Amino acid sequence: MNFDIAVLPGDGIGPEVMAEATRVLQSVGEKFGHKFHFHNGVVGGISIDKLGTALSKETLSICKDCDAVLLAAVGGPKWDDPQAKIHPEDGLLALRKGLGLFANLRPVKVLPILVNSTPLKPNIISGVDLVVVRELTGGLYFGQPKKQWQDPDGRKAVDTLIYSEAEVERIVRVGLELARNRRKKLVSVDKANVLQSSRLWRQITTEISADYPDVALQHMLVDTCAMRLIQNPADFDVIVTENMFGDILTDEASVLAGSMGMLPSASLAGIPKGKTFGMYEPVHGSAPDIAGQNIANPIATILSVAMMLRYSFNLETEACTIEDATLSVLKEDYRTQDIWSEGTTKVGTKEMGELITRRIKS
Ligand code: IPM
Ligand code: MG
Repeated sequence: MNFDIAVLPGDGIGPEVMAEATRVLQSVGEKFGHKFHFHNGVVGGISIDKLGTALSKETLSICKDCDAVLLAAVGGPKWDDPQAKIHPEDGLLALRKGLGLFANLRPVKVLPILVNSTPLKPNIISGVDLVVVRELTGGLYFGQPKKQWQDPDGRKAVDTLIYSEAEVERIVRVGLELARNRRKKLVSVDKANVLQSSRLWRQITTEISADYPDVALQHMLVDTCAMRLIQNPADFDVIVTENMFGDILTDEASVLAGSMGMLPSASLAGIPKGKTFGMYEPVHGSAPDIAGQNIANPIATILSVAMMLRYSFNLETEACTIEDATLSVLKEDYRTQDIWSEGTTKVGTKEMGELITRRIKS
């Protein structure tokens, strides 16, 4: 089969980890007889430098014309000035909105073999296998009004947390569908003891869940969830929540896996069934402090490629091939520096990509 993929390496370590991810993808193509056509685009800081905007019309239309988008990372100190008119992150938000990617899936799985790379006790994190479904195109990130202004009594600012029934319904359905195919537990996270938007969220979630009698639904306040995520993380199966809560909880959850360098993500434009358009990216950022040194962990981006094969191309066997190859390289004790521990073999970005590629070919 033929697939068109928009490739957006972005900034910092982005180009390095992307090179390994596309290398892995090529080897899957050769093994299974698929043709992956790469269409390069710029986004983030590099786009600001080259084109004066974090996301150009051209890059957006490359993405729209493809079957899926692979993105590595955007941002860096060069573009961090809070007074600046445009930031690399604006490109990311514009991509999410422009491509209608409302459902962000962030799986967190603790591999028994990496239990010692996390700061939490092994008995707490063993068996953790959860996925956070974060609403990605609504809430505080996009609600209007959103501005700063000057009043006689001082400066003021406002952001707006708004959700419509349709927005809540579609994201909750994604959570329910995923839960149905996993351990059938959905925790919907809100702040219904304080926020109106959360009360609506809770009501709609309860109504929609009637269509899924096989899934056990639990409502949980976001502060409680933050606590349970480190107290009892193995209890969670699927978590569904609004944009900002999801942003915060997924950074917290990422600690469970030992390194951000291990975590993939998918941002989908629909309920994952058959072939759903999506953008795939590692959860980590552009790590400018280690850029260009061949030490970044490419696994998060490589596992994001596996998610792309699964959700956008409906190629489950191919996706599992990447995941299995990654696991067996880790079992052979190869580690990038972020997950390295005494007694294991330290390798660079490129070497890790090559090891996984070799595994896939064998
Ligand atoms: C994330 C990031 C982004 C977000 C930033 C870079 C805008 O933190 O993907 O979690 O807040 O969504
Ligand atoms: Mg975040």
